[in-house]
Amino acid sequence: MITDNWNPDDYARHASFVPQLSTQLMRDLEPVAGERILDLGCGDGQLSQLLVQQGCSIVGVDNSPSFIRSAQASGLNARLVDAQEIEFECAFDAVFSNAAMHWMPHQSELARRVFRALKPGGRFVSEMGGAGNISRVRDAAAHALAEIGIDYKERDPWTFPGAEEQRARLEQAGFIVIKSALRDRPTSLPTDIKGWLVTFGRQLFAGLESTEQNNVIERIAELCHPHLCDLDGNWRVDYVRLNFRAEKPA
Ligand code: BEZ
Repeated sequence: MITDNWNPDDYARHASFVPQLSTQLMRDLEPVAGERILDLGCGDGQLSQLLVQQGCSIVGVDNSPSFIRSAQASGLNARLVDAQEIEFECAFDAVFSNAAMHWMPHQSELARRVFRALKPGGRFVSEMGGAGNISRVRDAAAHALAEIGIDYKERDPWTFPGAEEQRARLEQAGFIVIKSALRDRPTSLPTDIKGWLVTFGRQLFAGLESTEQNNVIERIAELCHPHLCDLDGNWRVDYVRLNFRAEKPA
């Protein structure tokens, strides 16, 4: 079933850095004009629009109806499909994903489906949260939720693989792995940790009424503050990126 955990207005306000911080991913993707490329978890499609401007033919998929509406409104060929359920066969020169795969629990199934979607010689390139990503925020969320009797593990929305774990998964699906590497990328927020939590943390607060939700958000912010906020009030979250590039044998 498709549920929508996204609000494009919150995203534009609190998460503008997501498409902006894609230099490494685009370097690994090496898009060429005329190529047919699939964007897995395209969101509102901003990154795909850049590729369209470079002459690529893009299909975007995402499981958020509101994001798909935004992407389609900007003219993108975007489809409401969960990336873990794609059924393309030998259809793309490349598949890429930016800051989306960590929302997908079925990573091995996803790798198999991407393999099938690529033409021989095609490439799969991604940037996602990797092992250790946002650990201060996760620890604080687990602590704050435990204080009101909720087990964080039962509602943890994220999967952050290690580099070797992801390499093995991709090889298992049939890929030749060119690169799989973690790197720290502390990330400055355009607003603050509360805006970040409202935008990205909806599943953490499912079922809480609004006062309780606000109290938990305040508590998480309080716990994170000594680690992630500087003396001028600027927030920097402890992001760790997993970048990989894998190829389907020609
Ligand atoms: C990430 O890009 O790593 C990320 C963003 C929001 C929530 C969790 C992880």
